[in-house]
This record gives sequence, C-alpha cells and structure tokens, in this order.
Amino acid sequence: MKTVLVTGANRGIGEELCRQFIDEGFWVIGAGRSEEELEKLKARFNSNHLETVVMDISSIQSIMRATGELRDKTIDILINNAGELSASSKLEDSDPAETMRILNTNFTGSVLVARAFVKQLQKSEDPRIINVSSGMGSRSELGFGYGAYRLSKAALNLLTIQMDQENFAGAKVFSVCPGWVKTRMGGSGASLSVAKGAEGIVWLANSPDAESGKFYRDKHIIPW
Ligand SMILES: NC(=O)c1ccc[n+]([C@@H]2O[C@H](COP(=O)([O-])OP(=O)(O)OC[C@H]3O[C@@H](n4cnc5c(N)ncnc54)[C@H](OP(=O)(O)O)[C@@H]3O)[C@@H](O)[C@H]2O)c1
Repeated sequence: MKTVLVTGANRGIGEELCRQFIDEGFWVIGAGRSEEELEKLKARFNSNHLETVVMDISSIQSIMRATGELRDKTIDILINNAGELSASSKLEDSDPAETMRILNTNFTGSVLVARAFVKQLQKSEDPRIINVSSGMGSRSELGFGYGAYRLSKAALNLLTIQMDQENFAGAKVFSVCPGWVKTRMGGSGASLSVAKGAEGIVWLANSPDAESGKFYRDKHIIPW
C-alpha cells in the first residue's frame, strides 16, 4: 500500500485529496496545524486508512516534530498543498508582514517540508513530490494584484525545476495548478468543484506518463 503525505489536509483541496487517495487505496497521512481540526477531519472520514500529524509548515520546530513522529514511515508521495492567499493589492501597497508570511508559508514551508522528509521519500520505489502551485504564479499569466501570492507560487515553480535538476530524494517532482476551485481560498464563485480540482493532483501521483520537472493543469503540461 502506497503512502501519501498531504499538507493542509484539514479543509479545501487538501481534505478532498485525502478523500480521493483513501478511495484509491492509499495510506493517507493528513497534516495540519491544528490538532482540533485534524480530529474533526478524522471524525468526518472515519477511515482506518487515515492518520494525521500536526505540522505548521511555517515553523521549523513543528516540521521537525512531525518528521520525528513519522521517522519510520516510507513516504511515496509528498503533496505540498498548504497555502495562503495574499491580499489583492498591488505590491506597492502590500503589507510587509503579510508578504513575509505568504512567502514563508507557500514557498519556504514547502522547501523545508520536502527537505525534512528526504529519508522517508528515499525509501519509496517511486517517490513523487507534488507542489500545488497556481496559474497566478505562471510567467505567462502574471498580472495585476495578489503580488505576494504570485511571487510565492512563481518561486514554488522554480523549486520544482531545481529539485528535478538535483534529482531531489530520487523523486519525480511536479508543479500543478488545480484550477479555480470552490474552497475558502477560491471562493464560492470558482468554476471547479474540489473533486475536479483534486483530480489532476491525484493523477500526478499515479500516472506513469507524468513528466518530472514540469508544470501541470488538468493532466496537461502548461507553460511556466
Ligand atoms: N482554490 C483555488 O482556486 C486554488 C487555485 C490555485 C491554487 N490553489 C492552491 O491550492 C492549495 C490548497 O488551497 P485551497 O483552495 O484548498 O485553500 P484553503 O481552503 O484556504 O485551504 C488552505 C489549507 O492550507 C492550510 N495552511 C495554511 N497555512 C498553513 C501553515 N502554515 N501550516 C499548515 N497548513 C497551513 C490551511 O490550514 P488552516 O485551516 O489551519 O488555515 C488549510 O488546510 C494552496 O496551495 C493554494 O494556493 C488553490
């Protein structure tokens, strides 16, 4: 049975990823920063294929604690899903504390989590790291506003390329944009259901054809 570790698992796309991976027969480790929310997640699923771990990806201590708890595991798939949206303002009007928080969570947090789980990934026969990015971080789609968020996702995309170049943990590494998805982040006006948004991510975890070091949306490679 393959094991997947999903960050930001307590709601939104992360929760749906847990649902779809359980249905696909994976052992699922759902990570979140609130123990209470993780307990609620477990109660909602009531599945013996789900375990949870407290991990705030903006805290090195919290990441190291989670790594310690999971030290004996093999992790086949790591999904850097946890993320936060910045205010819609232009960079010149942005709040410095918010900019630091967004870059720290969306980008640095993903680097540190991947680094922390190298040993567990190396035990897998087909390790994969999936960085949940956004079209808003694509050079071809950069636009007005949400500057910190766009920069954090552009940096996350570069992380995907760097990891692929380094053969990081021997893993295939992907960036993926889930599309515009109805979650707390995406809002109720978004075009896609969480099920549809998670589908392309689950595909990357399973597909023998998915190409490492590329940016995907809806199972197709898109430009950086
Ligand atoms: N929804 C969209 O339209 C869309 C489009 C493109 C990309 N994405 C990306 O998809 C991913 C999931 O987004 P979503 O739409 O599901 O958003 P969401 O519903 O707002 O969920 C975000 C998740 O990230 C977690 N999180 C935030 N900061 C964290 C931290 N420091 N440590 C651990 N967990 C943290 C949240 O936990 P708490 O509950 O504790 O806050 C929550 O579980 C994000 O990376 C987002 O950028 C979403």
